[in-house]
Amino acid sequence: MTEDEIIAKFPTRLRGYDLFGKLGNPKHVVAPMVDQSELAWRILSRKYDADLCYTPMFHAKMFGEDNPKYRNEHWQTEDSDRPLFVQFCANDPDALLKAAQIVADKADAVDLNLGCPQHIARRGHYGSYLMEDWDLVSKLIRKLHENLEIPVTAKIRVYPEVEKTVAYAKMIEAAGAQIITVHGRLREQKGHKTGLADWSKIKAVKEAVKVPVFANGNILYYEDVQRCIDETGVDGVMSAETNLYNPALFSGKILPTWQMAEEYLEICGRVPTRAGYIRGHMFKLFRYSLPIHVDLRQKLAEAKTMEEYWQFVRDMKTRLMADTDNAKVKFDPGNYETDEFGYRSYPHWICQPALRFEHDKEHSQSKRLLNEAKPEDTSISGAVTTEILSSPDNNETVNNDADVVENESKRLKVSTA
Ligand SMILES: Cc1cc2nc3c(=O)[nH]c(=O)nc-3n(C[C@H](O)[C@H](O)[C@H](O)COP(=O)(O)O)c2cc1C
Repeated sequence: MTEDEIIAKFPTRLRGYDLFGKLGNPKHVVAPMVDQSELAWRILSRKYDADLCYTPMFHAKMFGEDNPKYRNEHWQTEDSDRPLFVQFCANDPDALLKAAQIVADKADAVDLNLGCPQHIARRGHYGSYLMEDWDLVSKLIRKLHENLEIPVTAKIRVYPEVEKTVAYAKMIEAAGAQIITVHGRLREQKGHKTGLADWSKIKAVKEAVKVPVFANGNILYYEDVQRCIDETGVDGVMSAETNLYNPALFSGKILPTWQMAEEYLEICGRVPTRAGYIRGHMFKLFRYSLPIHVDLRQKLAEAKTMEEYWQFVRDMKTRLMADTDNAKVKFDPGNYETDEFGYRSYPHWICQPALRFEHDKEHSQSKRLLNEAKPEDTSISGAVTTEILSSPDNNETVNNDADVVENESKRLKVSTA
């Protein structure tokens, strides 16, 4: 179909900056996160100034199956859950369209995952493993562009070569994507090789395409959002990991972890949420306190009911308030210290990003953000520690609760080692 024919078919469907404007020019974007950007978390994030949220990635083929089990287990929304982009992974244009049509009246766009670097994505031939199959990528996007009532968008990773990254993004734009998110890491940058995102490649994409671009990677603090916009010129900034450790990130507020946990559980009381998701969020929110209050870790690992989660949070809050009272230096949110790399010294009961600097301060993210890092610092060999075992993109399509506990336990072992 020609573009004119597509416009004639969907005369009211918005494109590029018209879509972006209709969504309210979203600058603060919560990333798609398997098992973690679920409805309850999106509600909490929106309360703290997230302008746009993505669902977790859903497997298009499973989502579109006549048996609604997978869909019912994972897909949840409500009227106020907007603007919302629903993300799918796919390698079959028809299956993608079928899944997308199911959510079309409850979402503002459907996003194609072209970034997942996990083994399961290699086996299933989706996510970043489509980076060698531009023809299929184009067909997937084109299928939605020509047939779906709402716009299609895409989330990509970068190639080692900036020229190839730009050509890829332009191909995706030509296929019909109306917003492109660029996660500035290579496919190989996962697990202990995660390292830094390369904002210069995001900038190059932004300058080359006409549709809005979201930048993804290296956001640790509220101030990094504007820094990223200034450096790359992007239209919005997406956060995954830091949003999980600090759901108030986009508000600029510096808040205690227990407050976020309480507010999240209150939402879960209204919006039924899978125990594994809740547990995953608790492990992350209390990431810096669990190694100190070790006995509560087991309690959290074993919690299954809402009452057990509440009891865990009440116990943790009591401990953290005592820690606050006993602190030699009273914490003043407006007056924090930073170390030589720009990391802020917050007490463990304050929401803060998960830092990966223990073994490799030379390549710290903040140092990069302070423009002190050399370009080669983004090389995979210059990667940072293996602290985040269940992210980024490390979650597989269907994580059961045991996986979450195991991943979190591994993480805790690493971080307390
Ligand atoms: C727990 C977790 C789950 C993720 N799941 C997805 C996903 O479903 N789809 C996706 O495109 N990326 C996924 N990602 C990757 C993030 O969206 C993001 O691209 C990546 O973490 C880099 O952003 P960050 O530096 O802000 O963490 C996930 C990341 C995390 C931490």
